[in-house]
Amino acid sequence: MSKATIQATIQRMTSAAPTPIPSLTLTRPDDWHLHVRDGDALHTVVPHSAAQFARAIIMPNLRPPVTTAAQAVAYRERIQAAIPAGMKFEPLMTLYLTDKLPPEEIRRAREAGVVAVKLYPAGATTHSDAGVTDLRKTYKTLEAMQREGLLLLLHGEVTSPEIDLFDREAVFIETQLIPLRRDFPELKIVFEHITTKEAAQYVREADRFLGATLTAHHLLYNRNALFTGGLRPHYYCLPVLKREAHRVALVEAATSGNARFFLGTDSAPHPAHLKEHATGCAGCYTGHAAIELYAEAFDAAGALNQLEAFASFNGADFYGLPRNQERITLKKESWTSPESFAFGEAELKPLRSGETLAWKLETTWSQ
Ligand code: DOR
Ligand code: ZN
Repeated sequence: MSKATIQATIQRMTSAAPTPIPSLTLTRPDDWHLHVRDGDALHTVVPHSAAQFARAIIMPNLRPPVTTAAQAVAYRERIQAAIPAGMKFEPLMTLYLTDKLPPEEIRRAREAGVVAVKLYPAGATTHSDAGVTDLRKTYKTLEAMQREGLLLLLHGEVTSPEIDLFDREAVFIETQLIPLRRDFPELKIVFEHITTKEAAQYVREADRFLGATLTAHHLLYNRNALFTGGLRPHYYCLPVLKREAHRVALVEAATSGNARFFLGTDSAPHPAHLKEHATGCAGCYTGHAAIELYAEAFDAAGALNQLEAFASFNGADFYGLPRNQERITLKKESWTSPESFAFGEAELKPLRSGETLAWKLETTWSQ
């Protein structure tokens, strides 16, 4: 090589600016629907959520369920004890609605800082056997919630065995949600983890008292994911993944800029051996990489500019809580998700276990 060629090559090498890695800085997000379980499990999953989210709505479907203000306070303390030193994370507590939850408990709950009550129709999902058998039995308690300003969070599926599993959300809207909203027009309701175009449309057309959360997995996958190359238990959750047309409608809702759609991971850890089982448990664990998975879904839709409102503003505004002040940064830099995590005596396999993720949380949080 001549001297001139070498010089030209060096110049090309030094003058070509390195391609910048796309990055995204946003207000630190919140998770408006999270399962952290109890006991040893807390030490695995709470640090994952705390690394990303400032606050999370904690589901009360423990065994036994969280049905009193005192139980919610004790549970909050156990969660707080699992937050790693130096991390800031606020668990927002909920009660579990039963046919017999006394209306008087609602005031005690509000005074204890509980923000919402979760309705599981009896038999709808994991640990829902103590759930509601008939909404009318809960009306006095719902009146107290409307009065005290506690939100109602819905697992929106009917449970009748004669209704096709894939239709249970749409039937819930017609038979339960429409009458419920007519009877409690000023009760703030969150239609949790919506999975259908019917639900997205219903929420879009509703008033300011109805919001909805969307999971990352329902934005990223349709029901084919459950059957690709064999039965895939780690994609099984309830409400179950639906057809592609529904996934597309959910992405449209999440990225639309409508402030009544917001982030709720429904990250729901189960021991791997109970998911890889003849009657595998429902629930996808996304808590280890939740905000990265949402970034991937929004990126695929060309809507990264909508992620901050969805993840960091809309939920806080709907709940009437202040927006967070800290910021996080995501980089478009691929990394491999761990195969599994220790989970008490068992093992926890996350969604995308051992696979590549496109976005990476760069900093945890900063002022
Ligand atoms: O898939 C689910 N898992 N859906 C739920 O509603 C409950 C959750 C859990 O607690 O595992
Ligand atoms: Zn859930």
